[in-house]
Amino acid sequence: MPSRSPAPAPSETCPRSCPQDALSPSSLPSGSGTDGALPAVAAAVPLWRQQLHHGLEALPAARRRLLRSLEPAASAQLQPSSTAGTAAGPLLDLASNDYLGLSRHPAVLAAAAAELAVSGLGAGASRLVCGTRPVHLQLEAALGAWLGRERALLFPSGFQANLAAVTALTDRHSLVLADRLIHHSLLAGVRCSGARLQRFAHNDPADLERRLLAARRQRPGGRVLVLCESLYSMEGTSPPLAAVAALCARHGAPLLVDEAHALGVIGAGGRGLAHGLAAVTIVSGTFGKAFGSGGAFLACDSLVGEWLLQSSGAFRYTTALAPPLAAGALAALGEIQADPLAAIALLERAERWRQGLAAAGWPRPPGSGPILSVLIGADDQALQLQQQLEVAGLLSVAIRPPTVPPGTARLRLVLRQDLPSGTLTRLLAALGPPPASGA
Ligand SMILES: Cc1ncc(COP(=O)(O)O)c(C=O)c1O
Repeated sequence: MPSRSPAPAPSETCPRSCPQDALSPSSLPSGSGTDGALPAVAAAVPLWRQQLHHGLEALPAARRRLLRSLEPAASAQLQPSSTAGTAAGPLLDLASNDYLGLSRHPAVLAAAAAELAVSGLGAGASRLVCGTRPVHLQLEAALGAWLGRERALLFPSGFQANLAAVTALTDRHSLVLADRLIHHSLLAGVRCSGARLQRFAHNDPADLERRLLAARRQRPGGRVLVLCESLYSMEGTSPPLAAVAALCARHGAPLLVDEAHALGVIGAGGRGLAHGLAAVTIVSGTFGKAFGSGGAFLACDSLVGEWLLQSSGAFRYTTALAPPLAAGALAALGEIQADPLAAIALLERAERWRQGLAAAGWPRPPGSGPILSVLIGADDQALQLQQQLEVAGLLSVAIRPPTVPPGTARLRLVLRQDLPSGTLTRLLAALGPPPASGA
């Protein structure tokens, strides 16, 4: 039987730090290009190109070893179905965020195909020009009703939705208090708006409260926007959201909760953790994860929704979400509503896996959702484990700095509803005993 040799590590997502930050124009060498500081390049090469080139060259060796690539080897072989993951066959997916397997669900595919036939592939224009199709309005209404919010607005991606929400609610006079591990898209929104940014300790309402009090003392009446997620993608942890929401209500601070990884999976009926919390001003959701599609939305009350519609360039000046993706997301929502037991079964599996890993001597992954973050510590050890799993037909990605802080490399295992039984046993066998120096 042919054995599989490990492919290069797939590139990671970077939720909370910005790889480009190290290469931002301000960190690049400046000067005329004639002072000898830049690598020798043809005189006709413009200065800005020389600066980018030099910025890449100047990366420290440790970072260069971790340079991201779009290597398709592992993901091209990825198969989620229960037949996948034999030693010589495709890899079993323990890495993507298709938690409920809806990206290949027959009803979701059929809805997308039917819309494709009716609307074509792309909307062809922004929502306010002539890109709005009935399916957009149906999906917005269905999301609003599902989440108990007056308004939902669609966006082409979660990144853009987050950017839109933060820029709509803040300006350069505002303060943003963000959980230390918040997603990069929200930080990008803060940068765009010019607001001042402070991070509070991860999932720590006490630290948030100290900062809210200080902000009120220092700038009475100033706007303070609070940002957090309901399920952190690299940790698998969730905040005490009711406590965070109560604090925000008490201090008159709008609260944006990014539920990208939670919707469809955690909270009653898969409605996330913000459901029923009136003090949550905006819920941000994406269709790229449990919904198995692509695109995103913001859900809020009618005032905030109208403000977004009238003021947000990120909503107005972009081509509307592709109608087949919207139709797929609408069908996925139908499946989530029709089968609430799927999310419950997923969470039960997650608990069994947490217990199984801990019983085998691995650090118990924090949290209770379907993202299991197994702390390893050393980058090389995490990569080695990723490769061991790959040889055994399992795809899980080692998450390393700068995505996570130095010394906290981890193996990220993402559970799916359609994993074959016996996968945990396979995983533990492939991992072998925990390293002696295991975290
Ligand atoms: C927490 C969080 N928010 C927002 C996004 C962006 O969503 P999208 O992939 O739809 O742009 C992601 C995923 O990449 C995410 O993990």
